[in-house]
Amino acid sequence: MRKLIWQFLVCASVSVLFGSLPALAQVDRSLEGDKKCTVCHGENWSKPILTIYQTKHGVKADGRTPGCQSCHGASAEHISDPGSKPPNVVFGAKSKNVSPVAERNASCLGCHESNVLSRSHWSGSQHESHGVACTDCHELHSPKQKVLNPVTQSQVCATCHKAQDAQIHRFSRHPVLEGKVTCSNCHNVHGSVGPKLLVKESVNETCYTCHAEKRGPFLWEHAPVTDSCTNCHMPHGSNLSPLLKMKAPMLCQTCHSGDHAKNMYSAANLPGGNVTTANGQLPLGSQSPAAQGNARSCLACHSTIHGSNHPAGAKFER
Ligand code: HEC
Ligand code: HEC
Ligand code: HEC
Ligand code: HEC
Ligand code: HEC
Ligand code: HEC
Ligand code: HEC
Ligand code: HEC
Ligand code: HEC
Ligand code: HEC
Repeated sequence: MRKLIWQFLVCASVSVLFGSLPALAQVDRSLEGDKKCTVCHGENWSKPILTIYQTKHGVKADGRTPGCQSCHGASAEHISDPGSKPPNVVFGAKSKNVSPVAERNASCLGCHESNVLSRSHWSGSQHESHGVACTDCHELHSPKQKVLNPVTQSQVCATCHKAQDAQIHRFSRHPVLEGKVTCSNCHNVHGSVGPKLLVKESVNETCYTCHAEKRGPFLWEHAPVTDSCTNCHMPHGSNLSPLLKMKAPMLCQTCHSGDHAKNMYSAANLPGGNVTTANGQLPLGSQSPAAQGNARSCLACHSTIHGSNHPAGAKFER
């Protein structure tokens, strides 16, 4: 009985790992099995093929590891007549025999769709539905995959996403080129429940994973901040620091059009009863045109623009 339960558990966990177990079961994934292919595609092949044994796909001691045929298919015809019959699955995007994207991806998803090696939102995702292949990003025979290295990852994305690539080279940006923040810190390229493949269900939740202090809770919230950080910031980069869409006062004036917002240099335009000192006058520092007109603009006075916890911070001045 105990043995039966054990067998059941093993079967169940194996089928969770490998969705298409029957197809894979026909393949001998050992080094010995690989010899069917490596007799020709060995040391002397024009491209480095055996390098796969230096990757996670070459850890033969791990029973889940694929053999050549797990990815390329059994390829019986190719083995007997390599000159005129390609293998069942050809990944090389430049090859005239390249397999349809769906077939290439199916070969990976047999092992990587479910549970432990989770790609569970791939199906229907922006990349899947626009015909992007797993192997457009992953180079499987290479011991150093560009896309898995934080410093080089964005170069892989740049082959298709030129606009974002240009933005991450701007003056004010996240440290993406240094690999301290990666595209995949904010995006799950394999599919997500959020918009724009974001790792969380909204823009703000994504930003809060690192900028937790901006979440609040605040006694006085600034409505556009709780709505979306992208009301004011460009996540990929901007020529206006810090990652701003526009400089103040224009930034603020896109939403605030009262007399005071239109002409902050005139104390007369400050809202009535506005003044925060005991005698009803603006603090001296704020009265001088220099203080009001300096680069911080509206922010010279409204400094807690992301929200305030000060009892008198309703106008984000403290
Ligand atoms: C008898 C030698 C031989 C064996 C065995 C062999 N191949 Fe090939 N393979 C070749 C030759 C030759 C080519 C180049 C064919 C061409 O360029 O027309 C090739 C090409 C390929 C290509 C590139 C196809 C393309 O169109 O870009 C892949 C992938 C491949 N083989 C995988 C395998 C796999 C996997 C196995 C084992 C299941 C295997 N080969 C077994 C000789 C062999
Ligand atoms: C995990 C999946 C996977 C496994 C396992 C795998 N390959 Fe590949 N193979 C690929 C992909 C993907 C490519 C396309 C090039 C790339 O991404 O590196 C490729 C390309 C090739 C090519 C074409 C190289 C060229 O001329 O452009 C050959 C030949 C090949 N593989 C043979 C093998 C052999 C032999 C084995 C077993 C030792 C093997 N592959 C194991 C996925 C795999
Ligand atoms: C027979 C099952 C199997 C197949 C088929 C397979 N893989 Fe894997 N893959 C694995 C296993 C096992 C690992 C190692 C997982 C681990 O160490 O946790 C792995 C690891 C990976 C990794 C992580 C590599 C790293 O260095 O961290 C990537 C990326 C990957 N596979 C992509 C692919 C792609 C793309 C394909 C299709 C071309 C594919 N795999 C086909 C079983 C498979
Ligand atoms: C748009 C580029 C891109 C595509 C397409 C893509 N990946 Fe990835 N993959 C990445 C990046 C970036 C990472 C590392 C960060 C991460 O885990 O999200 C990664 C990591 C992985 C890992 C290892 C990390 C882990 O979660 O265990 C596996 C396995 C993997 N991908 C499999 C696949 C498979 C299978 C497909 C196709 C269904 C695929 N990938 C398609 C970019 C891509
Ligand atoms: C082979 C080309 C290709 C590569 C490489 C690629 N993408 Fe994409 N990506 C696309 C296509 C096509 C779409 C869907 C059309 C669109 O929105 O541009 C897309 C969509 C997206 C979206 C969602 C856009 C939206 O409007 O919902 C994000 C985010 C994204 N990619 C990020 C990445 C990241 C991050 C990488 C690198 C790890 C990457 N992509 C690599 C082709 C690619
Ligand atoms: C700091 C987080 C963050 C990083 C890092 C990041 N993105 Fe984004 N990305 C976002 C947000 C947020 C959006 C949604 C923008 C919006 O809704 O206005 C987005 C949108 C996108 C879109 C869709 C663009 C559109 O106009 O619809 C693509 C494509 C994309 N990102 C690709 C990338 C690529 C490629 C990288 C790496 C070079 C990257 N992103 C790095 C946060 C990030
Ligand atoms: C993976 C972590 C991470 C995520 C997610 C993230 N950031 Fe950042 N952010 C950073 C780091 C690291 C810096 C650089 C801090 C430094 O240079 O001192 C930074 C800096 C900034 C800056 C200031 C730039 C400057 O020049 O001072 C702004 C604004 C910013 N992030 C906005 C956002 C927004 C908006 C989001 C969501 C779309 C977001 N961040 C998501 C890590 C992250
Ligand atoms: C109403 C416009 C606006 C919105 C919305 C907004 N910010 Fe900002 N943010 C700014 C301005 C303006 C600055 C520059 C402040 C300064 O110079 O004192 C800034 C600065 C920053 C900085 C760098 C300085 C600091 O305070 O740490 C980070 C990080 C940041 N914002 C993150 C975020 C995040 C995360 C969100 C979304 C939760 C967000 N911002 C929403 C206007 C905004
Ligand atoms: C995307 C639109 C938007 C932008 C950009 C924006 N705000 Fe606001 N702001 C609002 C909204 C909406 C409210 C809430 C108004 C209300 O409750 O009547 C608000 C409230 C305020 C308040 C409190 C007003 C009150 O009556 O309590 C101040 C002060 C303020 N914003 C200053 C700024 C400054 C300074 C900037 C530029 C750094 C800015 N805002 C940028 C939309 C915006
Ligand atoms: C010299 C300091 C100072 C500057 C600069 C300044 N404000 Fe104000 N702002 C105030 C004070 C003080 C109040 C009134 C506080 C009160 O009534 O309690 C106020 C109130 C507001 C209010 C709420 C009342 C209203 O008029 O709707 C908004 C919105 C606002 N400011 C936006 C802005 C914008 C946008 C800018 C930049 C164009 C700006 N402020 C520049 C000091 C300043």
